[in-house]
Amino acid sequence: MAYPERFSNLPEYAFPRLRSLLDSYEPGGEVMHMTIGEPKHAFPDWVADIIAENIAGFGSYPPNDGSPELCASIVAWLNRRYGVTVDPATQIMALNGTREGLFNAALALCNETKNGKQPVVLTPNPFYQVYAVAAAAVGAEPVFVSADPGNGFLPDYASLPADVLDRTAIAYLCSPTNPQGAIADRAYWETLIALAEKHDFRVFADECYSEIYRDTAPVGAMQVAREMGADPNRVVIFHSLSKRSNLPGLRSGFVAGGADDIARIKRLRAYAGAPLPLPLQRVAERVWADEAHVEENRRLYREKFTLADQIFDGVPGYAAPQAGFFLWLPVEDSEDAAMKLWLETGVRVLPGAYLAREVDGQNPGKGFIRVALVAPITEMQRGLIRLRDCLYR
Ligand SMILES: Cc1ncc(COP(=O)(O)O)c(C=O)c1O
Repeated sequence: MAYPERFSNLPEYAFPRLRSLLDSYEPGGEVMHMTIGEPKHAFPDWVADIIAENIAGFGSYPPNDGSPELCASIVAWLNRRYGVTVDPATQIMALNGTREGLFNAALALCNETKNGKQPVVLTPNPFYQVYAVAAAAVGAEPVFVSADPGNGFLPDYASLPADVLDRTAIAYLCSPTNPQGAIADRAYWETLIALAEKHDFRVFADECYSEIYRDTAPVGAMQVAREMGADPNRVVIFHSLSKRSNLPGLRSGFVAGGADDIARIKRLRAYAGAPLPLPLQRVAERVWADEAHVEENRRLYREKFTLADQIFDGVPGYAAPQAGFFLWLPVEDSEDAAMKLWLETGVRVLPGAYLAREVDGQNPGKGFIRVALVAPITEMQRGLIRLRDCLYR
């Protein structure tokens, strides 16, 4: 059975690819999974009570756009966090996790042509994989722009030729970045938003790691766009409770942007969306309103980062991440390193090449492995020491 042509260039997803690489070999020691970015710190214990109190809500179809109470809680958070004022009725939509939102927003907002030609979708390289699938689904040409140590792990979209920028419909930018943990600062956002204004494209700001930072809270894309007086429909932001609140299984996030864009997203999703069940919307409403658990979560990650800095002290090319919960460690060849580590220690990490695309014969992820710091700290410490001794000693 032939796969539709538009998806024929999609490589196999990173995790089955890793299974094909490693699973026919015996691990060299206690198996430790440092591959998937699934948060493991505790989520607030009152979540269970809210579900129980609202259990009858499973008997109703949920409000598609998000309950008024949930939207109000989200806009209050946006205001506290970024100082922006957002209309809960027209500028917010609840999502079933940001992954589907990052995909569905492209369906709603990317036209068939841009300036009479095939549209372009810009994505950092390496990148969160849904960006490429969204580009394929809307018939756009994906342009993968290297995010490497030379540019502080943030793609230099401004260096692209003007004809590519004129065809650009959407530029994805993740900040803090997955996998490298870099933060786009105010100047970076200003340059990108000014470029988007000049070439008339939208910026999709994937900010789902915004609350997992070490020292300073990352500035927000919407905040900067407002300060610049940019077109309100220029920037669309995506946020999630998966990382902030250790609730990846709740599948709860939101998209916010200009009223026209959000109206288009809402209309499409009224037909084909998968709204969050009402009891879970009630949970999300309360979780956005609470910061105590988020501060505790950051404290736990800070401890892990400090430990990682100690363990990798002196390792050439080690860059302490500013945010997120991954290490992006330099190696010769990412598949070889993942294989050696598995065979000699049983530690499992993701080859960076699986998160990036080859452009002009270069894969900017090939010289890195991604290591998730989600396991309990003592287990993480054992894994990192084994990793360091295997690959860097
Ligand atoms: C960069 C990035 N964006 C979006 C997501 C999706 O998160 P969720 O759908 O759980 O909100 C993830 C999850 O791993 C991610 O790493």
